[in-house]
Amino acid sequence: MLIRDISVDPPLVLAPLAGLTDSAMRRLCRRNGASMVWTEMVSAEGAIRNSWKTFELLAFHEEERPIAFQLFGSRPESMAEATRRAAALKPDAIDVNAGCPVKKVVKSTSGAALMKDLELLRDVVQAVIESTTLPVTVKIRSGWDECSINAPEAAGMLGELGVAAITVHPRTRSQGFKGVSDWSLLPEVKRSCSVPVIGSGDVKTPEDALRMLEETGVDGVMIGRGAVGNPWLFSRAAALIATGKVPPEPTLAERLRLAIEHLGLIVEAKGEHRGVMEMRKHIVATLKGFPGAVELRRELVIMEGSENVRARLERALAEEVRCDDSNG
Ligand SMILES: Cc1cc2nc3c(=O)[nH]c(=O)nc-3n(C[C@H](O)[C@H](O)[C@H](O)COP(=O)(O)O)c2cc1C
Repeated sequence: MLIRDISVDPPLVLAPLAGLTDSAMRRLCRRNGASMVWTEMVSAEGAIRNSWKTFELLAFHEEERPIAFQLFGSRPESMAEATRRAAALKPDAIDVNAGCPVKKVVKSTSGAALMKDLELLRDVVQAVIESTTLPVTVKIRSGWDECSINAPEAAGMLGELGVAAITVHPRTRSQGFKGVSDWSLLPEVKRSCSVPVIGSGDVKTPEDALRMLEETGVDGVMIGRGAVGNPWLFSRAAALIATGKVPPEPTLAERLRLAIEHLGLIVEAKGEHRGVMEMRKHIVATLKGFPGAVELRRELVIMEGSENVRARLERALAEEVRCDDSNG
C-alpha cells in the first residue's frame, strides 16, 4: 500500500487508541511488524492553545516512522492552524478524525459528528490539505446511525478532494464499539474512491487480517485492540500473508521479555511514576492465559517503583526459563 509516497508494506498498521497507543506502544508495534502507526487523536483547539498535553501526545521517537498525527476538530480555521503547528513537528502524515463517538467530542460537531455533515467534513479536510504539504488521511465510520450509512459517499467526496488514504471503521456512531463491525461495507467504500482504503475493526488474529484483505479488497488493515499487549499480531499476520503459515503464539518467556522492554520504553517516555502507573493496563493485557498469570498480575498492578516491577518480571522470567530447561 502506498500512502502518497509512504510505502506501507506489509499493509498492516497500528490504530489510534486514546490512552493506549502512546510512543512506547507504537515503538513496540513497529519493532514487531506494524508498518505504520497513528497517534491517538489530539484536539485542534488544544494544539492552538499550545496545550502542554496536546504536544505531549504528539511526541514521538524516530523509530516510529512512518507516523500519522491524528487531529480532531470542526472549525476549518482551527484545523488549519493546528495542522501547521503539528506539521512543524515533522510527522509523515496528518490524519483527520471523523469517527470518535464520545459525547464530549461529537457535541462540538467533531469526530463522528462530521459524518452527519459531509459539507463540514469537506471544509475541514480541505482546510487541512491546504495547510500542509504532508499527505492527509481521514478516518471515518459507517455513518451516524443505521439510517444514515454514508461512508461510501464520504469516501467518494474525500477521494476527489485529494486525501492520500481513507480508513473506515465500519460501525456507526450509535454502535460505539459494541456489536461487530460490518466488513460488508468495505468493498462499497473501496469502489467509491480511487485512493487506498484501510479497514479497521475486530481484527484479533492473523487469520482475521488476511480475511479482511481477501474478503473486502481493502488495501490495508488497521489493528487496534487486538494489538494491546500483543504486538506480535503484526508479525504473525505478516508471516501468514507472506507464507500462508502462522507462527506460534508468543511463549510466556517472550511475553515477560516484552513486558520488561515495554516498561523501559514507557518509563523513558513518561518518567518513573506515570510510566509505572500507565504500564499497569498493558501488563494486564500482556501477561494472561498461563498458570499463575492472575497472581502475577495482581502483584504487579499494585507495585510501586519501576525497579521493583522490573525485578519481579525478571524473577518470573528466570523461573520460566529454568522450568522450560528442566522440561527439556
Ligand atoms: C480505547 C479506544 C480508544 C480509541 N481511540 C481512538 C482515537 O483516538 N482515534 C480514532 O480514530 N479511533 C480511536 N478508536 C477506534 C480505533 O482506532 C478502531 O477504529 C476501533 O477500535 C476498531 O478497531 P479494533 O477492533 O481493531 O480495535 C479507539 C478505540 C478504542 C477501543
